[in-house]
Amino acid sequence: MINENNPGSFGSSRGLSKKIKKDKKRKSSSTRWLGRQLNDPYVLETKKRGYKSRAAFKLLQINDKYNFLLPGLSVIDLGCAPGGWLQIASEKVSSISGHEKVLGVDILKTEYIPGCKSIIGDINDKNVGEQLIKLLGQKPDIVLSDMAANTTGHRQTDHIRTTYLLEIALDFSIENLNNNGVFLAKCFKGGTEKEALDLIQKNFSKVHHVKPDASRKESVEEYVIALGFKGK
Ligand SMILES: C[S@@+](CC[C@H](N)C(=O)[O-])C[C@H]1O[C@@H](n2cnc3c(N)ncnc32)[C@H](O)[C@@H]1O
Repeated sequence: MINENNPGSFGSSRGLSKKIKKDKKRKSSSTRWLGRQLNDPYVLETKKRGYKSRAAFKLLQINDKYNFLLPGLSVIDLGCAPGGWLQIASEKVSSISGHEKVLGVDILKTEYIPGCKSIIGDINDKNVGEQLIKLLGQKPDIVLSDMAANTTGHRQTDHIRTTYLLEIALDFSIENLNNNGVFLAKCFKGGTEKEALDLIQKNFSKVHHVKPDASRKESVEEYVIALGFKGK
């Protein structure tokens, strides 16, 4: 059941735990994954609401708290596939003008999402950044980045690779955001993110760290939301 005031939360079915039978043909890590999926209320609710990803709830919950996705604002979403964040962003910023101001990029293809445009590209490539600004036709008010590198299972390697993506997203934001703009990005805790966080503190008026309920407790993932970009 959707809570109208907090669309990111809902009457949950937590507590109804489904047991997965062991299967000799399945690796135990796959059994654990299957167990998590079947017992995860967000997975069920994602299907019910027709979201492209479970991650949609993370953005919904962060927005419930900071209310920054407002009608008429323009958004660039870095690492947008399969498109859950695009769906939420477009729902929240859409205005009567109907002008599409939500644009995403990913190295993978993103299926069409009403109210959004997306391109295939690697944000490491400077031309891709320029292409995004050209396509949007203006500087963005909000830059989102849920980018994550493929995990290797080696904690420190994963941390370094995801921190690098945070740095790229931050550089793109400092280069392109509108004054007073917002930057929201995934951040893996682990040490090397300090330099990026210092740079965020320097360039924005308010910075918060947030771990939405939809982000798995066991994950080192959290998000940093920076409000009030001071300008280039
Ligand atoms: C966690 S997923 C994003 C999920 C998305 N927020 C949603 O709600 O559907 C992370 C994405 O970052 C993308 N990504 C990783 N490195 C990238 C890069 N250098 N440029 C563009 N996208 C990248 C991955 O392909 C992946 O689709």
